[in-house]
Amino acid sequence: MKENITEISEIKRLLGNRGRLAYVRSFGCQLNTSDGEKIKGLLKKMGYGFTDDESEADLIILNTCAVRENAEDRVFGIVGSMKKLKELNPELIIGIAGCMTAQSHIAEKIKKSYPQVDFVLGTSAINALPKLLLDCLNGVKFSADIAEYDDFSAETEQVRESSFKASVPIMFGCNNFCTYCIVPYVRGRERSRRPEDIISEVEGLVRDGYKEIMLLGQNVNSYGNDLGGEMSFPQLLRRLNEINGDFWIRFMSSHPKDASKELIDAIFECDKVANHLHLPVQSGSDEVLHRMNRRYTAEKYLSIVNDIRSRDPDFSLTTDLIVGFPDETNEDFEATLDIMKKVRYDNIYSFIYSKRTGTKAAEMPDSISEEEKGQRMRHLLEIQREISTEHYKRFIGRRMKVLVDDVSKKREGYVSGKSSEFIIVEFEGDNSLIGTFVDVEITEAMNWAVVGRIV
Ligand code: SAM
Ligand code: SF4
Ligand code: F3S
Repeated sequence: MKENITEISEIKRLLGNRGRLAYVRSFGCQLNTSDGEKIKGLLKKMGYGFTDDESEADLIILNTCAVRENAEDRVFGIVGSMKKLKELNPELIIGIAGCMTAQSHIAEKIKKSYPQVDFVLGTSAINALPKLLLDCLNGVKFSADIAEYDDFSAETEQVRESSFKASVPIMFGCNNFCTYCIVPYVRGRERSRRPEDIISEVEGLVRDGYKEIMLLGQNVNSYGNDLGGEMSFPQLLRRLNEINGDFWIRFMSSHPKDASKELIDAIFECDKVANHLHLPVQSGSDEVLHRMNRRYTAEKYLSIVNDIRSRDPDFSLTTDLIVGFPDETNEDFEATLDIMKKVRYDNIYSFIYSKRTGTKAAEMPDSISEEEKGQRMRHLLEIQREISTEHYKRFIGRRMKVLVDDVSKKREGYVSGKSSEFIIVEFEGDNSLIGTFVDVEITEAMNWAVVGRIV
């Protein structure tokens, strides 16, 4: 579905001298942030400006995430507190977007218990935003559009958060149905974007000076499966690598069951593809992996890691891990620690299992207490700290190319950036370096970053 130009002009007319400041907050993954940038793009066309202070906003949109219960609880807490803002400013419009809206029990709860909410916008219906806003401005009490529109090639302009790092969704949805995960239920089945649309978007971004392109999909390795063999993900990487310019290509996430030799060849043969792979393992126990429906074993996972490390022993890997999956035994947990030690990840993103209504795992018996899960999590983080402390030392004495992100939050007079390996690098410098590539010689390693001097 394309955005409706007539509706956009009508909103501009209706807004007239009314306030036009929007507060848009995204709570979820990078895909969710990218949706937030599209929402802002549409709002900009309607004449809205943006604010980071919800108390001065005329329109508030909360772009939500459903992946864990605490993400949902946070949003309900914030929506609850917005009742006051609405009392102070009855013209304030409040909308809920994002993955939470796709669960019917949540949409019901919002409608029933949060009368301060004016509209609900589904993840596949972003271009319906003008229509919903028009309803609000015309006095309709509550409106919603959570339909799954297919025509996402009708892409909209984005207001990007960064002027040098850009996220580019290459596909939407997921077919994998890992038993703990809500994403396939809230994002629908896999749909790949047309290769020519992706290529021209990346060409445009590089022309505009972007230095890092992050390709996004729930499992980028199945990109193109619905395009009849026209282009696979490794082929897409090679094609994007041909674009002239000084920039990096990153991507996430990569499902281990589909991480092919072609993918690894492309990573090593494409000079613009970063020296880093995010390969979510979730657990080191075959029993748990089976019950998670991950469709690989620890051995298969390690064989991918071995292939990578046989080409570059220092290659950087990161992962996602779930602690406390239903009935995870001590042995299962030990197997997770074991795989962490074997792989030596540079970083991990670990989560305590959160029960999601509607998923298969929500029906599984679970005898592990929350306290035990918490203890396992603390232990796992301690092990990872030891691994990172040791593993980061390999960078000392090396020269790393760094894309500078920001001034350092921890050291005065320092800036912070990421290397191609996705390692945080800090060094003395000022904010004129933000958004540029610099070479840094590494002098010191910590467990969360390395420190060096500009060369
Ligand atoms: N599609 C990606 C993949 O398969 O790796 C990422 C999906 S999800 C947005 C990001 C991470 O959230 C997952 O890798 C998993 O570790 C975690 N996650 C998903 N569902 C969860 C749940 N119910 N409880 C705890 N963590 C969960
Ligand atoms: Fe969720 Fe699994 Fe799909 Fe990732 S691959 S989004 S974890 S179902
Ligand atoms: Fe992302 Fe959360 Fe949706 S992780 S896909 S915003 S459920």
